[in-house]
Amino acid sequence: TRRVIIDTDPGLDDAVAILFALASGLFDVIGVTTLAGNIGLERTTANAGALLTAMGRSDIPVISGAATAMLRDNIDASVIHGDDGLRGVTLPEALMSPQSGAVDWLARTLTDAPSGSIDILALGPLTNMAQLVTHHPAAAERIGHLIVMGGTIHEPGNAGPMAEFNFAFDPEAVSTVLRSGIKTTIVPLDVTRRVRADRPYVKALRQTPAGDIAANLITAYLQDDRQSRPLHDPCVMLLAVAPGLFEVERFCLGVDLALDADAGRLRLSETGSPVNVAMRVDVEGALALLASAFD
Ligand code: BDR
Ligand code: CA
Repeated sequence: TRRVIIDTDPGLDDAVAILFALASGLFDVIGVTTLAGNIGLERTTANAGALLTAMGRSDIPVISGAATAMLRDNIDASVIHGDDGLRGVTLPEALMSPQSGAVDWLARTLTDAPSGSIDILALGPLTNMAQLVTHHPAAAERIGHLIVMGGTIHEPGNAGPMAEFNFAFDPEAVSTVLRSGIKTTIVPLDVTRRVRADRPYVKALRQTPAGDIAANLITAYLQDDRQSRPLHDPCVMLLAVAPGLFEVERFCLGVDLALDADAGRLRLSETGSPVNVAMRVDVEGALALLASAFD
């Protein structure tokens, strides 16, 4: 098992990703850092604590980070995730009190561990990561592998015509992280839109208490009328443990810092930063691995 930190803005698909990480036994989760994204910081942090508590893992620290993007006003995704971030799915109250200061906590934790021994699974905007790079560059260099859900290469966007939500939320943060030299793999909409849960899939998850929670979350995410929904953030977890399920290409990428709907759009460019991008996925294999944590 790899030692990982989950950086997240739960969020329904974040929540499913966290449940998978804990239920699968394939990760040693040493902390969960939170930030504003799908909804405000207070809710994302409370949701993270509640999820860990529901899984009997209130021993894992929750540390809150960025409440706003680096330079911009926050956008939110409460149309999809609800005002509470979990679309009304109720969880037990968190047993632990969250700490604050995610960026300093990340720096300390990375500095105290052997270099390269901790991976970061980033499921939200990259604000915490960019602050780490800016304020603690030596600690940031000690990250083993940063795996990020965000962006799109060919797929239409979900925040702008070609812009994805996490990257549109804080494009300056994306730019900082891309230029940092950290070993990074991006998991964009091109892949995450293929990995979809429908109602029969959700039903089959209800075999364990954790699977029941995952099923409740995905049912809420399906709302009343959707055939299926993309499991964006769980794809990061799947790539971390089963890279063979994905085809990864290396691109030189920059990010659009526009103030319009192109904000956060990735652009292939010779002057961009070389980065790994998951472009294809074995959909059946991915869905089967995700479900296997709940049987
Ligand atoms: C990403 O945006 C958020 O709404 C989801 O949690 C996911 O991280 C998908 O574009
Ligand atoms: Ca997310």
